[in-house]
Amino acid sequence: MDLTCPYRRDTGLLPVDPCMDYLALRDAEPVRREDDLGVWVVTGAAEVTALLRSPALSAAWPQHGRTRLHDERDGADGAPRTAGIVRRWFMFQDEPRHQLLRGLITPLFATRRLAALQAFVEETVDHLLADVTDEVDVMAGLAVPLAGRVVCRLLGVGEEVAPRLAGWALDIAALLVADYLPEVVERGTGALAEIEEVVAAALKTPGVPEGTVLEVLSRAHEAGRIEYEDIAATASLLVFAGFDTTSTFIGKAVRALLHTGQWSTATTRDIAATVEELLRFDTSVQQVARVAVAPVEAAGQRIEPGDLVLLMLGVANRDPRVHRDPDVLDPGRRTGRHLTFGYGTHYCLGSGLARIEAGAALGGLARRWSHVEPAGPPVLRPHHGVTVLEHLRLRVRR
Ligand code: HEM
Repeated sequence: MDLTCPYRRDTGLLPVDPCMDYLALRDAEPVRREDDLGVWVVTGAAEVTALLRSPALSAAWPQHGRTRLHDERDGADGAPRTAGIVRRWFMFQDEPRHQLLRGLITPLFATRRLAALQAFVEETVDHLLADVTDEVDVMAGLAVPLAGRVVCRLLGVGEEVAPRLAGWALDIAALLVADYLPEVVERGTGALAEIEEVVAAALKTPGVPEGTVLEVLSRAHEAGRIEYEDIAATASLLVFAGFDTTSTFIGKAVRALLHTGQWSTATTRDIAATVEELLRFDTSVQQVARVAVAPVEAAGQRIEPGDLVLLMLGVANRDPRVHRDPDVLDPGRRTGRHLTFGYGTHYCLGSGLARIEAGAALGGLARRWSHVEPAGPPVLRPHHGVTVLEHLRLRVRR
């Protein structure tokens, strides 16, 4: 049995995750300037943590962070990049606006609310797996519809919207990193416009469900606390932040347990601990970005105002200075300090929900079938910045 990371060697069976190329760099150069792109790449766990805490780095990178590719296209004129409602996302805001918007929906992620959502998640898993006989595609048959329906439920829009989330999330993710390509801008702004339409239609319908994002935000708008555009902006942020991240993590978790031959043992023990180690071992959000607004030093390097900084969470999660035998998937270990959900003020708002969804998906499969094995190689979707699993077929037996 091989417990180590499937991406460290090219077996021909599994696509090598490009972010893993940085594993080797981390020990030699935890903070490195990539001159080709004109960005800093930070791979050490201590450096990533310190920089995510530093006031010298701003979260407003989509507006101001430029790579060499942007400069080549339109000259370094310093004009803000990303247009439209993405600029309103609280994920890309600094204080105090970040806290104003985040604070409005934070109560929806409180323990009591999550308990109610957990029941919905478990029912959805049961429903999705009810008709499976001997084969299931973990992505198309479980993780994707589950993550989509949960986001719709949270927002307060009908389940019929869920199948549209995959396309939207893909086009928005591309817009964030490759907006120097006109076709990417066209598709990304198209996706955002569709979300605005769906939100506008939901708000016009009487009775947006109570305790949902749209209801809470429309009340805040009526009270004059936020602008109307912030409602659809926050909805599109949740589509982007809550959907592919979670569905792909579920697929990667199943893949990692099967690859290392630990499916049966890991799913029959404490699922929450297993999920925690899986989150550390292979995250779906390999990196987050920031733009420097003041000079800052890290690992002897000086980052200057205006520089774009990529913080490699997945690579930092394999830092031997923090985790013993970091390339070994060990569901028995107590993994307390991973960076999978980020660090500091922008720490993932949906981390509790993601853990619930992953636990319910793994538990749902394991409870039904004692034998689970791959029925073909995983299929990855080309994606900017995030590795997205499209298909992961399994053969199952009781
Ligand atoms: C395994 C699944 C997930 C992973 C790996 C993940 C990862 C992350 C990371 C790394 C950040 C920090 C971004 C930064 O610092 O720039 C973040 C932020 C965020 N996540 Fe998640 N996430 C997941 C699931 C979810 C879910 C299910 C939701 C909600 C439905 C969600 C909502 C958010 C929001 C709203 C933010 C922005 C927080 C802020 O800026 O204050 N995430 N997530």
